[in-house]
Order: sequence, then structure tokens, then C-alpha cells
Amino acid sequence: VVIRRDVRYGMGALLRVPQVVTELGARRVFLVCGRRSFEASGAARVMPALERVAEVHRWSDFAPNTDSADLLPGLRLMEDVGPDLVLGIGGGSAMDMAKLLCAFVGTTGQDKLHELIRSGETVTSRTPGMLLAPTTSGSGSEATHFAVVYIDGDKFSVAGPGLRPDVVILDPVLSLSGSRHQRATSGIDAVAQAIESLWAVGATEESRRWARHALRLLLPAIETYVNEPTDVSARAMAIGSHLAGRAIDISKTTAPHALSYAITKRYGVSHGHAVALTLGGFIAAHGRAGSGDLRPGLSPSHHAHAMDLVYAALGAGNPHQARSHFTGLARRIGLTLRLPEVGIVTAADTEWLASTANGERLANNPVMFTTERLAGLLREPADASQGVE
Ligand SMILES: [Fe+2]
Repeated sequence: VVIRRDVRYGMGALLRVPQVVTELGARRVFLVCGRRSFEASGAARVMPALERVAEVHRWSDFAPNTDSADLLPGLRLMEDVGPDLVLGIGGGSAMDMAKLLCAFVGTTGQDKLHELIRSGETVTSRTPGMLLAPTTSGSGSEATHFAVVYIDGDKFSVAGPGLRPDVVILDPVLSLSGSRHQRATSGIDAVAQAIESLWAVGATEESRRWARHALRLLLPAIETYVNEPTDVSARAMAIGSHLAGRAIDISKTTAPHALSYAITKRYGVSHGHAVALTLGGFIAAHGRAGSGDLRPGLSPSHHAHAMDLVYAALGAGNPHQARSHFTGLARRIGLTLRLPEVGIVTAADTEWLASTANGERLANNPVMFTTERLAGLLREPADASQGVE
């Protein structure tokens, strides 16, 4: 059994939102959703039935990459509305925003909000109910107990059991409406999350099981899903990205994600694409790492096993082939992995990028990197190993 009881899955499952809202005893719903994607994805069809069972306040005033400057007005509005349930319908940003609103409900002052975010304190509980329905496949945010939020360009992670939803609605139909680029970038995020989860220092038997299962669904489906989406590929991507989310819920992400936030902020590259830009380099570097390069306490055989799982998932026999297969996949779904093509051109650019990944953020990466080594990795051309196949 892959799907847990608190996950309602199926084509058209979104139409069950009113029923779930009733089950959860909610009468006043704060709906967090994308401005255009809510209509475009077909999710808006649920509104008439939802408004028959609850008073619904819709809020879409936030930009991608959740920012405290958007969160604060949302929290103030929550104070006026007094919802008993927060319903997040959308991509990773909408779901993260729904989670953040639940985490910080009752906080309406900027200084207090920033202080709470910066404290890194665990969010142990929440008052409103929480129901999440992803419309992309995906960030897997609906499966994790953490959310990202920025304060003045600095990235923070908010985490705790209070960020887990009561119920998840997983409806593959919703993800079919996005653009090709949108499907590519969210789909490759899920693939990257599963790969990073396999080699993460925080990986466990269970997280590796979810990650492997995720890759078995995602990799055979992603090209069809991006280039000529079908119901079958959408189903595989919806479950696969949810399972990848469950994997990183345990293991957390690693270096490619740590670097991606700066790429997104400075160069405007969408999240999944930003992660993919460096993932290939890390596949190769993690594959050739010697025992002295590994984080202390990590056994070489444990790491070698993780890398074998990565190669097997990508249908490769060695790190260079694995990198090349990943690069080829990205190309076929329309994503360039050449850093200069997104604006990361000069040595100063790569050095700056390497410097953004500080020790703490890289602590979950199996291989240790100095800033210089990281900059070197970023200077390697994306298709360096293209001829090795
Ligand atoms: Fe991600």
C-alpha cells in the first residue's frame, strides 16, 4: 500500500474537497491558491459545492518563493477572517504559504514574525485545520513537515509536526493544465528530491524505500508527462512526486537544493530547474568521492550503496554515465543545464554561488566541499561526460 489513509487520491479527487471540509468540521475556510492557476488547473470547479458547506475567503496575494512580506498581510487577513481551516490548492508556493499561515496564525507584527522565523523553533501544533491539494507534480510539499520562507532575500526553513496537513487531496488531473516548462521544472524537482534523498546523510531505510519507489514511477513517466501528457503519465508523476516528498520529509535535501535557492533568487530560474542545474555535477562528484571526502561518520560502503541506487535508478553503470543520462533527460524535457545559459557566466559568478552554500546548509550532503571545490564543480561543463556513454 503506497497511499496513506490521510491521502485521498484519484482522477477528479479534488471534487471531494467539500466532503473533507465537512468531515473536518470546518465552517470557515481560508483558501490559499494561485491567482491564475486556480482557474487554469480546473480547481475552481470545486467552488460552488465548497461554498455550500462553508464560508470561503480566497487569498492569492503572494508571489512564487514564499516571502515574509507576503505572509504578513496574509496573517493579518487571517486575523480578520478567523478561519477554522486553511485550504492550500496550488503548486509548492501555495502549499508552503498555507503551511506558514497555519504555523504563525495570531502573529500580526512584522518584528515578532521575523523573530519567530529566525528562531528556527519547532512548530509543534496549530489551531486551524489544514487541507492541501497540489496542482503540480511536484514539490511534494504536501508530504513534508517543513516550508521555506524568505526575509529580505535570506532563506529560512520553518519546520515541525504542526506543518503537516490533516488531509491531502492528490488529483493528477490538476497537473495536466500547466505549461510544458512548468511540468518540466516541477517534475525534475521531484526527480532531484528523490535522488538527493538516496544519498542524504539523513537517509533511513524507510526514506530510501520511498525515494526508490518515487524514481521507479517518475523516470519512466516524466518525458511523456512533459512532452505529450497522458492520464497514465500524470498518475505516475502525482504519486511519484508525493513519494519523493515523503522521502525528503525524512532525509531532507542536500547540496543541489542548498545551491538552488540562490540561483532562483539571483537569476530568476524556477526552483526545479535551479536544482537540476547542479544535480548532474553532484552525481559525478559524489560518485568519484574517496573515503576522505565523506562526512565524518559516514561509511564508504554506505555511501557506495546509495550511489549504486542512484545509478540503477538512472539505468547507468557508473557516475559519468549516470550524469550523462540525467543531462540527456533534462535536455529532452527542454531544460538547459548549462550554467552560462541562465546567466552564471564568470568565475566571479560561480565563486559567489559556491559561497552561498555555507557549512550548515551542506551538513546533510554526504560529501564535504570547500568553497573552492564547489566553485570548481560549478565550472565543469554540464555535458562534460556526454561522450562517455
Ligand atoms: Fe525542491
